[in-house]
Amino acid sequence: MSKKILEIKDLKREFIMGSETVHALRGISFDVNAGEFVTIMGSSGSGKTTLLNILGCLDKPSIGNYFLDGVDVKQLSRDELAQLRNHKIGFVFQSYNLLPRTTALENVELPLLYNKEVSAADRRERAINALKAVKLADRHDHTPSQLSGGQQQRVAIARALVNEPVMILADEATGNLDSRTSYEIMALMQELNQTQGKTIVFVTHEPDIASFSSRTIQLRDGHIQKDTPNESMRSAKEVLENLPVTDDY
Ligand SMILES: Nc1ncnc2c1ncn2[C@@H]1O[C@H](COP(=O)(O)OP(=O)(O)O)[C@@H](O)[C@H]1O
Ligand SMILES: [Mg+2]
Repeated sequence: MSKKILEIKDLKREFIMGSETVHALRGISFDVNAGEFVTIMGSSGSGKTTLLNILGCLDKPSIGNYFLDGVDVKQLSRDELAQLRNHKIGFVFQSYNLLPRTTALENVELPLLYNKEVSAADRRERAINALKAVKLADRHDHTPSQLSGGQQQRVAIARALVNEPVMILADEATGNLDSRTSYEIMALMQELNQTQGKTIVFVTHEPDIASFSSRTIQLRDGHIQKDTPNESMRSAKEVLENLPVTDDY
């Protein structure tokens, strides 16, 4: 039996807005096993980001339980939670969130600055390897403004990988990218999943993007509407190979 990386039970998240209560999550339960590639789909406002923020320990549920790699997140102090987040989770956002005027290599080194056990030399070496893994070995010294959107997202993915997390969480990570570049990012995600065994939870509202994952959880108004394995998962690498050479994507 596969190891459970995350386990959530009857998760609810409410936001109090003056006299109104917004029910962003209305009771969500599911498990994710090590090595799964899960997409979370749903229209705008369905609760995807709220759910991902809780999974990434950036936010806490109002009610419900969350076990991350067997640890009950509720029992942790702020510091312990920050530690857990830093070690187990790599985050990728729609808008890359890189530091401007800072090189790709330094951006990737950043999460390791909080890790006192890693020396400066190790930090550099691990950042170099992470950039290699996303095929940007030749862009160490470029700042974000000197990189394309797809390259910036690959730097952000390298930064998410540098702590060797057990799980990558991505929120609309292809949302700002054209089709071809989106497929390149999905090919990279599939490679990380299949060759490095990374568990991935990837939020998207595009069915086309979800077709590259092995399972899709569909949210609607804070509920799970559907949770289905994808029997005919597409290969992003193959899709890329079959795209016309010149196009207007
Ligand atoms: N910090 C917040 N304060 C108040 N309401 C929020 C907050 N974050 C999200 N919401 C509300 O919760 C619902 C779900 O939002 P969100 O998780 O961002 O949806 P999605 O990512 O699927 O578009 C929406 O109605 C949104 O307005
Ligand atoms: Mg969102």
